[in-house]
Amino acid sequence: MTQHPNVSRPETAAGQAGALVIANPRSLPSFADIFGNRNPVEIEIGCGKAKFLIARAAENPQINFFGIDVVWKWMKYAVERTEKRRLRNLKFLKADARETVRYGIPPESVSIFHIYFPDPWPKRRHKKRRLVTGEFLKELHARLRENGLVELATDHEDYYHQMLNAVIHSGISWSSTRRAEGERLFEALAKTNYEIKYEAAGKTLYYLELEK
Ligand SMILES: C[S@@+](CC[C@H](N)C(=O)[O-])C[C@H]1O[C@@H](n2cnc3c(N)ncnc32)[C@H](O)[C@@H]1O
Repeated sequence: MTQHPNVSRPETAAGQAGALVIANPRSLPSFADIFGNRNPVEIEIGCGKAKFLIARAAENPQINFFGIDVVWKWMKYAVERTEKRRLRNLKFLKADARETVRYGIPPESVSIFHIYFPDPWPKRRHKKRRLVTGEFLKELHARLRENGLVELATDHEDYYHQMLNAVIHSGISWSSTRRAEGERLFEALAKTNYEIKYEAAGKTLYYLELEK
């Protein structure tokens, strides 16, 4: 397989396990080129330090995982840990998730989108910056395979209601929707960094699962 010009190896200590970082979401190589196989693909949007994703990738070598975040400061830890554990099925993209989903991810190519604790933008004038809108859910829906899932979590009650409204008003027909408070819907070996932090602080956590 030839090296795609948009794929680079990060400057980390281990270097050999192939936790490639991809910079430009508008010219993403195919998942088959990125991973070297045609296994199912799961994506975490806003993965941060990727505690959840690293544990899930280690436990599921037959699935490919992709972490997207705009901030390299957090992603750097994730890449270092991925290389240290020699996980070949986990790659990272440092980019805006909206742009990536719109321009980089082909239709019907993803099994699960994980979106945990997206920035809540609590001030009224900043609400329009929130990632999860009806339009964004439509774009995710188009990129999911049949029976694919969107897994969402937030600690922010107002954002949770925005997510529920987006599901109702976006006109997408999901084959099933499930919601829960204080209890994860998607089984996971590891929780995310924010999930651990918020649980320890005694916050109510809201979960939502959408199935195509
Ligand atoms: C509150 S943190 C949650 C991190 C992780 N999901 C967790 O639960 O521990 C939100 C993350 O989303 C990232 N983020 C915010 N906007 C984004 C965007 N448009 N595209 C990609 N990542 C984004 C932030 O950089 C940050 O790492």
